[in-house]
Amino acid sequence: MTTTRTLQVDPLSPDPAVIAEAVEILKRGGLVAFPTETVYGLGARALDEAAIERIFQAKGRPARHPIIAHVEDEAGARKLSADWSERASRLARAFWPGPLTLVVPRASSVPASLSGGTDSIAIRAPAHPVARALLAMLGEPLAAPSANRYQSLSPTLAKHVLKSLDGQFELLLDAGPCARGIESTVIDVRGARSRLLRPGALDLPQIRAIDGSIEVADGLAAEGEERASPGMDARHYAPRAKLVVSTDADAGDVARRHREAGARVGLVSRGEAHPISGVTVRTLSVDPKTYESALFATLHALDDSGCDVIVVAEPPAGEEWLAVRDRLERARAR
Ligand code: TXA
Ligand code: MG
Repeated sequence: MTTTRTLQVDPLSPDPAVIAEAVEILKRGGLVAFPTETVYGLGARALDEAAIERIFQAKGRPARHPIIAHVEDEAGARKLSADWSERASRLARAFWPGPLTLVVPRASSVPASLSGGTDSIAIRAPAHPVARALLAMLGEPLAAPSANRYQSLSPTLAKHVLKSLDGQFELLLDAGPCARGIESTVIDVRGARSRLLRPGALDLPQIRAIDGSIEVADGLAAEGEERASPGMDARHYAPRAKLVVSTDADAGDVARRHREAGARVGLVSRGEAHPISGVTVRTLSVDPKTYESALFATLHALDDSGCDVIVVAEPPAGEEWLAVRDRLERARAR
C-alpha cells in the first residue's frame, strides 16, 4: 500500500454511509483508523487473528504487547471475559462509555494474540460518537491500539496518524481533534484489590469514589523496573526530538543553553510564557485536564517544526498530574 485513503466524518453525527464503508473494510479483514475521545486508534476486528497480526505489523509492535478490545457496552465486554466481577460491573456502569479500560480474565473464544499471549484481556467502551457508530454497525468488538508506530507519540489528530502509519492501513476516519488527548486509564480488576496499570484520562479520585480498593503501584513510571502492565515499556510515547524535563525554575535556562549550543529548541511551559530568543515557546494550561488535551499535539507540532530538543517544565507532584508525569517520564530522553 502507498497512501491511505482518508474520509472526513462529522464528530458528533457521523454519516452512516461513511461508517458503512469502514465496516466493509473491517469485515474484509482490513484496518481502519478512527477517533476516540482519548486518541486515534488503529482498528481491526478483535476476533480476527489475521487482522490482529496486521496491527502488530503496521505498528512494528512486539507480539507480547496486549491490545485493548473496544466494545459498545458492558454486555459486549462480558462476552470477551471469562469472569466479569461485580467490581468490573460497577466501574463499567459508572464510567462507560468513557476513557476507562478494565483488565479482566480473557474468554477462551478471544484469540490469545490479542492479549499478547496472556490470559487476561483489556476492554473499554469508547465515548466518541464515531467510535460508537462504528461498533454499533459492525456488531463486534474492535481491537485498537493507539494509531502510531511502536514507541512514538500517540495521535490526537488525523495528520498525526498519517505521519507515522500512512500506507500501512486501508482507511482513516478524520473527525478532527480528540477531546481528551491522552490515553484511557487502565486498571486491573482481577485481584482482591484493583490496580492502576496506566494513569490516563479518567482521574483516580473519580475511580476511588466507585472502587475504594484501587491501589497505585509505587514508581509507576520508574526506569528499569518490571512494568505493571505488559507493553508499558519505560520508553514510549516519545517524540523524535530529544525530550528533556526540567524544573519550572530551570526550564528557561536549560532551553537557552541548548539554543546557545546550536540546537533548534522548543520549550513547553505552563501558565505563563517568557519569550526566549531563538526558542519556540508553547504555553499549556495550569489546569491538568486542559494540559493533557494539548500535550501530544504540542509535542507533535514541535517535532514537525524541526526541533532537536524539547524542554518541558515539570508539572506539579499532585495526583491530578499523574498521567501527564507518566507520559513525560516515558517520553524523555535517557
Ligand atoms: O485510550 C486508549 O486506551 C487508546 C484508544 C485508541 O482507545 N488505546 C491505547 O491502546 O492506548 P495502546 O495499545 O496504545 O495501549 C494499551 C495499553 C498498554 O499500556 C497495555 O499494556 C495495556 O493497555 N493493556 C492492554 N491489554 C492488557 C492486558 N491484557 N493486561 C494488562 N495491560 C494491558
Ligand atoms: Mg499506544
